[in-house]
Amino acid sequence: MEVKFAKALRQTAELMERELDQYLPESSGLEQQLYEAMRYAVLSGGKRLRPFLVIQCADLFDVAREYSVRVAAALEIMHTYSLIHDDLPCMDDDDLRRGVPTVHKKFDETVAVLAGDALQALAFEILADPKTHPSAGVRASLVLKLSQAVGVRGMVGGQTMDIYANGDDISMATITRLQQLKTGALITFACEAGAILGHASPGQITAIRAFAHDLGLAFQIADDILDVEGKSDEMGKAAQKDSDAGKATFVSLLGIEKAKIHANMLSNQAISHLSCFKGSADLLQDAAIFTVKRNM
Ligand code: IPE
Ligand code: IPE
Ligand code: MG
Ligand code: MG
Ligand code: MG
Repeated sequence: MEVKFAKALRQTAELMERELDQYLPESSGLEQQLYEAMRYAVLSGGKRLRPFLVIQCADLFDVAREYSVRVAAALEIMHTYSLIHDDLPCMDDDDLRRGVPTVHKKFDETVAVLAGDALQALAFEILADPKTHPSAGVRASLVLKLSQAVGVRGMVGGQTMDIYANGDDISMATITRLQQLKTGALITFACEAGAILGHASPGQITAIRAFAHDLGLAFQIADDILDVEGKSDEMGKAAQKDSDAGKATFVSLLGIEKAKIHANMLSNQAISHLSCFKGSADLLQDAAIFTVKRNM
């Protein structure tokens, strides 16, 4: 199982490298730094788990790869924008991302803010392009879902809660909502996009959404556990930052052991939502296991 999943994730990463490269031209002139920063951030690695989820969920419905790969690229570009802004001095103030200096360190803060802005616009541009799907209705649905996932009721809302929450005083309900918004919303989009591309039935969409909901939460709890127990050189980003920054996480609320139990419970629950897809969702099941077992 693990070998098959690792190979499939690596193949997705290689595919995405080639795909993403096409959307990020080089340029000269006054805006040259902006182009360079966009390429630098998007093409400097990352697990590419969100693209993997898009493609695997789309495969459940036999969606042509030429479509699912474009949606995967749009989402990865959106995710990269969120990372650039998350690392800024006014947010988490991080110097290392994906094993290289963060965009504001490599370039400057102005370029980092603007590269994030431009990547966000680029993600929507890719989704709205007729090459992404022949049906205008499908494209509009993807644009609507992604805008909801990144906006005030999604990632950006969650990031705001993350900055203003107090790690010493947060309830289970609030931390769950915070994590669901800041990280879960984009992961839910990843999975739901495959179902939208594939004209899935309402029952299938319900199952996919339930899977993604638990997976997204498990993913961020695992990230918070890695902040305590992970190695910076394996993760490509700094470790042991959340506690000093007073971040509210499942670890700050429950402690590390109970946080692990909670993440594993969510991963198992995510897997059980896939039962209606029988054997065809094996790699998605593996992704749920990887989410809580990873070291990066
Ligand atoms: C990091 O996401 C930000 C979170 C939402 C926790 P990933 O762990 O997927 O980062 P990359 O894309 O692999 O670098
Ligand atoms: C970031 O969460 C979630 C985003 C929306 C980018 P973290 O701040 O915990 O992510 P890392 O640990 O910096 O990757
Ligand atoms: Mg953060
Ligand atoms: Mg951060
Ligand atoms: Mg983190």
